[in-house]
Amino acid sequence: MNVLVVGGTGTLGRQIVKKVIADGHSVRCLVRDRVRAQFLEEWGAVLYKGDLNNLENLPEVLEGVDAVITTASAGAGLKGNTIYSVDRGNQVLIEGAKKAGIKLFIFTSIFKCDQYPNVPLMGLKLDREKQLKASGMNYVIFRPTAFLQGVISQYAIPILEQKTVWVLGEPSSVAYISTLDAARFYSLALTKPEVHNQTFALSGTELWTPDELIGLCDELADWPRVPKVTRLPLSLLKFMRKAAKYFEWTRYSADFFEFSEVIASGESFGADMQPTCDAFGVGMGELTTMEQFLGEYFTKMKRKLREMNYKPPKVRTPF
Ligand SMILES: NC(=O)c1ccc[n+]([C@@H]2O[C@H](COP(=O)([O-])OP(=O)(O)OC[C@H]3O[C@@H](n4cnc5c(N)ncnc54)[C@H](OP(=O)(O)O)[C@@H]3O)[C@@H](O)[C@H]2O)c1
Repeated sequence: MNVLVVGGTGTLGRQIVKKVIADGHSVRCLVRDRVRAQFLEEWGAVLYKGDLNNLENLPEVLEGVDAVITTASAGAGLKGNTIYSVDRGNQVLIEGAKKAGIKLFIFTSIFKCDQYPNVPLMGLKLDREKQLKASGMNYVIFRPTAFLQGVISQYAIPILEQKTVWVLGEPSSVAYISTLDAARFYSLALTKPEVHNQTFALSGTELWTPDELIGLCDELADWPRVPKVTRLPLSLLKFMRKAAKYFEWTRYSADFFEFSEVIASGESFGADMQPTCDAFGVGMGELTTMEQFLGEYFTKMKRKLREMNYKPPKVRTPF
């Protein structure tokens, strides 16, 4: 199959590109910066320069393509690339794909977007889901919770570097999924017509609270020093969101804060993965667990630190 991936340089997108190529498909990627995307070319993808904020060359990019996968996301929304502009780009991408007669469109949404339609990031995802369903194209919608890879920057690195770990709001529990596992579902979706025209949750199998994650990282790091944790109350997060809305240049971070509030609300973010696994013929036991993921990460990092002759401070204090 000829597959176009939009968002191929991202955390999830790069794993999809790698897996789809490994499964024997031809991949082209729409990228904003060819130099930063060079690694995708080295893996066998063909690069097309383009931007969701300006899709003039879309007909050319879609020529000969059978399936489109989009994982594009504006993150916190910087430099004119906002959740609204990326959403508008995805909207044009869906319209263009329909016009070009694309056989399958795979869209990356967000877990529970239907429960929080008034939170901008989630409402926009829900609108795109509706547009795609009404387009008449075959589709698959994936709704990820959060990615295991994000735990590294949020918890593992600060604990390894003995810096502060920030915990937002109430301790929400999240079932994180590995982007490698998620990529497997995207690639399978290309050749499994029985999963088409459906929406699937992408979740890990176990819920983790921030304190449990800090405890696990502390155990695996095995440093003499107790991790430093600073808790940001939900009220402060709400205040920051309101304050950001006053200023044009921070308006888009206000939308991001609003999304963070959902994540930090104390509500659990995890789905039963059995229906998704059954539909795709993937064993639940094949999904990466937090212990496996962090265990491998800390083993690798501690080996590197040993090679560098790094010596942690001797006293176990909270300071
Ligand atoms: N991260 C999570 O925990 C999480 C949770 C639930 C759902 N999701 C969804 O999962 C998807 C993937 O998330 P991720 O964490 O892998 O995202 P990511 O790492 O931030 O990657 C975003 C990708 O979108 C591309 N992009 C951004 N603006 C673009 C534009 N104007 N035109 C073309 N490409 C553009 C980026 O390209 P550049 O390299 O050029 O910046 C990058 O490849 C997103 O749709 C997100 O909403 C993520």
